[in-house]
Amino acid sequence: MCGIVGYVGQRPAVDVLLRGLRRLEYRGYDSAGVAFFRGSKIEIQKSEGKLENVEKLINQFPESAEARCGIGHTRWATHGKPTTQNAHPHRTGHVVLVHNGIIENYQEIKRDLVHRGHQPVSETDSELFGFLVFEKMESGKSLKTAVAESFREVTGACSVVVMSEKEPGTVVGVRNGSPLVAAVDPKGGVILASDAQPLLEYTREVVFLEHGDLVLGTSSGISFSDLKTGATVSRSTSVLDWSPAALDKQGYDHYMLKEIFEQPSAMVDTLNGLLDRASAESFPLAAQPAVELLNTAERIVIVACGTAWHASLMGKYWLEKWARVPVSVELASEFRYRDPAIDKRTLVIGVSQSGETADTLAVITELRKKGFPTIAVTNTRGSTLAREAQAAVFTNAGPEIGVAATKTFTVQMLTLLCFAAFLGKRRGQSADADEIFSQTLRLPHLLSGYLDVRSPLRQAIRETAKKLLNLRGFFFIGRGYCFPLALEAALKLKEIAYVHAEGYAAGELKHGPIAMIDQDIAVIVLAPNDAWREKTFSNLEEVKARGAQVLGIGNPRDESLRKVSHFWIPLPEMEIHESLIPFVLTPVIQLLSYEFAVLKGTDIDKPRNLAKSVTVE
Ligand code: M6R
Repeated sequence: MCGIVGYVGQRPAVDVLLRGLRRLEYRGYDSAGVAFFRGSKIEIQKSEGKLENVEKLINQFPESAEARCGIGHTRWATHGKPTTQNAHPHRTGHVVLVHNGIIENYQEIKRDLVHRGHQPVSETDSELFGFLVFEKMESGKSLKTAVAESFREVTGACSVVVMSEKEPGTVVGVRNGSPLVAAVDPKGGVILASDAQPLLEYTREVVFLEHGDLVLGTSSGISFSDLKTGATVSRSTSVLDWSPAALDKQGYDHYMLKEIFEQPSAMVDTLNGLLDRASAESFPLAAQPAVELLNTAERIVIVACGTAWHASLMGKYWLEKWARVPVSVELASEFRYRDPAIDKRTLVIGVSQSGETADTLAVITELRKKGFPTIAVTNTRGSTLAREAQAAVFTNAGPEIGVAATKTFTVQMLTLLCFAAFLGKRRGQSADADEIFSQTLRLPHLLSGYLDVRSPLRQAIRETAKKLLNLRGFFFIGRGYCFPLALEAALKLKEIAYVHAEGYAAGELKHGPIAMIDQDIAVIVLAPNDAWREKTFSNLEEVKARGAQVLGIGNPRDESLRKVSHFWIPLPEMEIHESLIPFVLTPVIQLLSYEFAVLKGTDIDKPRNLAKSVTVE
C-alpha cells in the first residue's frame, strides 16, 4: 500500500525521504519516487520497481544533497498500472503531490478537468488532485487554502502531501482516511509520513492526525487546521516511548493487534506476489507452475487445519460460484485416515500458514507421491509443505508472531479468491470479475482507512466486549460467506479469551443448539447486506424470542438490525461487492476476540496450551 514521506527543515531532505521510504517498504509497493526543491524549482525522480531504481536516478544529481524540502512516495497501483508515468510524485505546473488512498469520484473530476482544457498524463486518480490545487493557486489562493478547497471536491478515504514552486519550503498534508503522522524535527523543521516508523529516527514525539486535519509544515514550525472550516486546531503529541520489544511491536500492546492492523499491507504483498501487475486483465495470476494445475483441475480438494480450514471453506464458496468446479474442504487430520474416492483429475490444495502442520503435510506428501496434482498455499518460503507439493503459492503476510492466526487468514482467503476469479474468467463464469478485481485492489486502502487504533469502530468493539464479558457462552451465527467467518470468530474467542464459543450456520441453530439459548447466552449475528441477510435476520428473531442477548453486526444503515439487536456493531460504511464483505468483517471479529482477551487478562500472543506451528498429529 502506498507510503508517504514529506520533509522540510535543516537536514538533507532527499536523505530523510529515502530513509523514510525504506521504513515504509514493508507496506508493499511497485513503484517509487521523490520530489525535492533545487532552488525554487522542484525536481522529480521516480521509477517503476524498487526504491533502488530511484536512488540510482538521484545519484546523478549530486546537488540533490543540498535540498532541504521534499516529498517521497512508494506506490501500490490501484488506478492504472505500476509504471514510471503512474508513479508519484505527480506534477501539475508548479504543484507537486503524493497521495495515498482512493479518490472515488475521480471519473467526474477527470471529466470536468478535461472539459476545462486540462490533460492528465497518468492513469491515476491522484494526479487529478494536483490540477484542482493548481487551478486554485492560479486564481491567487495560497497552497494551504488551495489544498483545503480541493479536498472538499473529492470523495474517498485518502491522504495527500503537496508542495508548490510558488511557496518553496512549505509542505501541506491532509489526512482524510488513510493515516498521516507528523512530527517536529528537533533540529528544526517538520516530517510527515504514513506511519510513525520514518519519524522515530528523529523524534519520539509525534502527532497522529485526525480525519479531516490539514497540517502545514515549514522549517520554522508546524500548524494544524480543520479541513472544512479552516479553523486552527490543536493536536496533542503522543510520546512513543517504545522499548526495543515495543518497537518491534511498533507500539501495539500485542503482536496479535499489530498483525490485525497489518492486514491491508499483507493483502498488498500477497496480491503483488500472486498477480501479474503489469497486465490489463482482471485477476491475472502471474505465470507459475500452480496456474497450469489450476487450469486443468476437474475437481478440487482443499486440506487444512484450524483457521486455515476456515479460510479454505470460504474459498469453496468463491471457487464453486465462479469457477463452477466441485470443491470439498477437508480437515487434514480426518482426511489422511479416510479412504477418499478421488481420482488424478482432482487437484489437492494444502493451505497452511506455517507449512509445517503435520496433518496437512502428511496428506500433501502422500498424495503427491501417489501422483495427484498438489499445490501448497503457505506463508512460509522453504517450508516442508512448499517443498513437498508439486507447486507452491506464497501468501506474503510477513511473519506472524501471535499464535492466533489473523493476517494469514485474510491472505489465505485472498489467494483462494484470486484462484476462483482467475478460473472463473477462464471458464467464462465470472461476470462481475472486472468490478470485483478493481474493488479487490482498492480493499487494502479501504481497510486501512478504518483499521485505526483510535477508530470509533475499535471503541465500539471494546465497549461491546465489556458488556458481554460475563455471559455464559457465545454463539456466532451467519449464512453464506458469514458461516466460515462465524466458525473463525468462535475459534478466535476460544483460543485467546478462553471462553466457550461456537460458530454455527444460522440455519442449523434450530436443529439442536437452540436448546441452550437463554438470557446468559450471547448470539452474535453476522448479517451484512448480502444475499443471505433476510434469512439470517429470521434466525436472529428465533434466538431473541428465546431470551438470547443478541449482538448484531451489519451494515451501518441497517436500522432494523440495529433496533432488533440488544448490542450493535455497525460495519464501516463502504460500497462493496458482497463477495468481498468477508474482508471487512474479518478484522471486526478478530478485534472482538482481542478485546475480550484484554479484559480477561489472558496471554494473548501465547495462549495456554497452544503452539504456533502444530508439527505433531
Ligand atoms: O500453520 P497452519 O496454518 O497449518 O496452522 C493451522 C492451525 O494450527 C492454526 O490455524 C490454528 O488453528 C491457529 N491457532 C488459529 O488461530
